[in-house]
Amino acid sequence: MRTDRTFTMLKPDAVEKGHIGAILEKINASGFRIVAMKLTQMTTADAKEFYAVHSERPFYGELVEYMTRGPIVAAILEKENAVEDFRTLIGATNPADAAEGTIRKLYAASIGENAVHGSDSDENAAIEGAFHFAGREMF
Ligand code: CMP
Repeated sequence: MRTDRTFTMLKPDAVEKGHIGAILEKINASGFRIVAMKLTQMTTADAKEFYAVHSERPFYGELVEYMTRGPIVAAILEKENAVEDFRTLIGATNPADAAEGTIRKLYAASIGENAVHGSDSDENAAIEGAFHFAGREMF
């Protein structure tokens, strides 16, 4: 199923460093329409559930701690080919491998604290968006 929507989080490190405005500017300039958006903070239970797919990975505990340590900006974005185009815009998971000009190259510190999340499939975009937003919060 192709929905032309993706889900993103500007992660605690990006919010702490004051990069919300600059990252949203890049998202806007790249042609994404904002369908839903909020500043929120995940509880430990939220983060464990959101990242359940990584529960066997050695970095799971560190990931849950990082993602709950402060507010995030959660958003649903719309554009033709949204999932793939957004992953191109944010760059590789490890900022050391991210292309010049990508959000992670510009704003991420490390593979763990990598500034921004982008869904990896249309199916996960729908699941992740529904995790954070009620239907009446989507426009
Ligand atoms: P993201 O791809 O948005 O979702 C999974 C997250 O796990 C990833 O971003 C990183 O924040 C984190 N992550 C992935 N690989 C590692 C790693 N090797 N060490 C620490 N954290 C990681």
